Amino acid sequence: MLKSFWQVPKIVVFSLCKSTENIMSNNLLAGKRGIIFGALDENSIAWKVALEAKSQGAVFTLTNAPVAMRFGEIKKLGEICNAEIIPADATSMPDLENLFTKSMEILGGKVDFILHSIGMSINVRKGLPYTDLNYDYFLKAMDISALSFHRVIQTARKLDAINDWGSIVALTYIAAQRAFPGYSDMADNKAALESIARSFGYYLGREKKIRVNTISQSPTATTAGAGIKGFDKFSSYAAKVSPLGNATAEDCARYTVMMFSDMTKMVTMQNLFHDGGFSNTGVSEDILDLV
Ligand SMILES: NC(=O)c1ccc[n+]([C@@H]2O[C@H](COP(=O)([O-])OP(=O)(O)OC[C@H]3O[C@@H](n4cnc5c(N)ncnc54)[C@H](O)[C@@H]3O)[C@@H](O)[C@H]2O)c1
Repeated sequence: MLKSFWQVPKIVVFSLCKSTENIMSNNLLAGKRGIIFGALDENSIAWKVALEAKSQGAVFTLTNAPVAMRFGEIKKLGEICNAEIIPADATSMPDLENLFTKSMEILGGKVDFILHSIGMSINVRKGLPYTDLNYDYFLKAMDISALSFHRVIQTARKLDAINDWGSIVALTYIAAQRAFPGYSDMADNKAALESIARSFGYYLGREKKIRVNTISQSPTATTAGAGIKGFDKFSSYAAKVSPLGNATAEDCARYTVMMFSDMTKMVTMQNLFHDGGFSNTGVSEDILDLV
């Protein structure tokens, strides 16, 4: 008969833990090259993806908006990951062309994966209600948070910068499907982002077997996340609704890396919920105070 966990000798538990660690780092991305957008500081989801991709054997370049070079800590990440940093405003076509051209030179060939981890809304930052938006801010946010994804993919395609069976991922939020007061125009930007993944996924799949997906992540305490009004409250609400609790940035990094790996070759044009079950839960006993 199986012993309960607590009866298993400590030495066995220790070696089980060790073997789990090994499973977590098994060179899933060995031989793969990539570009990671959006690491600002060590809370950024892109930062965690870079660390995970590195530990899984990938080589990549890092990029962020020129202004983030001054305020963020991306240089530190570059040193940790032995990755070159190429500044690029994701709304600038010349910057993106330079980014892909230089990345291919530095990495010694076309890339296999791209992470788009970019979001910004001045309406959100200024706390403007959804019912009273500034349209210049809205257009800027749409360009940075959604159209930039199209710009990135279109540039890569024109430069023939992605290998066959490559994988492109953008990060999104469930406000694209449901109303979340406080998320403001970012909800519309995320809906557009997810649509771009589907539409481009069709063309790139047919042409070169390249897949394009979005990952819809739990609330995560980052610079962008904490900018949402009432973030702490809706993050703890989500944790109470989700049977598994909120997915952390590290969990998201592991999932993203799996999407870059050959383990998910036939997954494309999807919006993949990575949210501890939040998206399929109506209400929980925690929310109803029944536990
Ligand atoms: N934090 C959350 O709760 C959460 C939940 C779901 C999805 N997301 C998404 O994850 C992604 C990453 O956000 P994060 O939470 O890691 O926050 P973050 O603030 O660390 O990252 C956002 C990044 O966007 C970059 N950026 C802004 N404007 C840019 C431009 N013009 N060109 C290039 N880069 C630009 C910023 O410099 C920053 O690095 C975003 O798309 C965000 O919407 C976040």
